Amino acid sequence: MADHVTVEICMGTTCYMMGSAQMAGMAERLPEEWKDRVTITGKRCTGACQKAGQYGRAPFVRVNGELIGAADEGKVLAAIRDLLEA
Ligand code: FES
Repeated sequence: MADHVTVEICMGTTCYMMGSAQMAGMAERLPEEWKDRVTITGKRCTGACQKAGQYGRAPFVRVNGELIGAADEGKVLAAIRDLLEA
């Protein structure tokens, strides 16, 4: 179980157009009990979008370092829950 989870949302052009724009306000939508334990930041393109097939497709989000492809808010919340509550 993790004490703290860091979420890095790629805000590069490809990811932004593919859906990370919708995740940008996610910090405000976190359950109250997670708010002190989760940090959400934006990142520049790290190149994952150029290696389609290897990492999945955009948008990409890292949750405690683990790369999630085709990310959406539901997937990211599930990954956070696994880390905080497992
Ligand atoms: S734009 Fe997100 S990995 Fe390239």
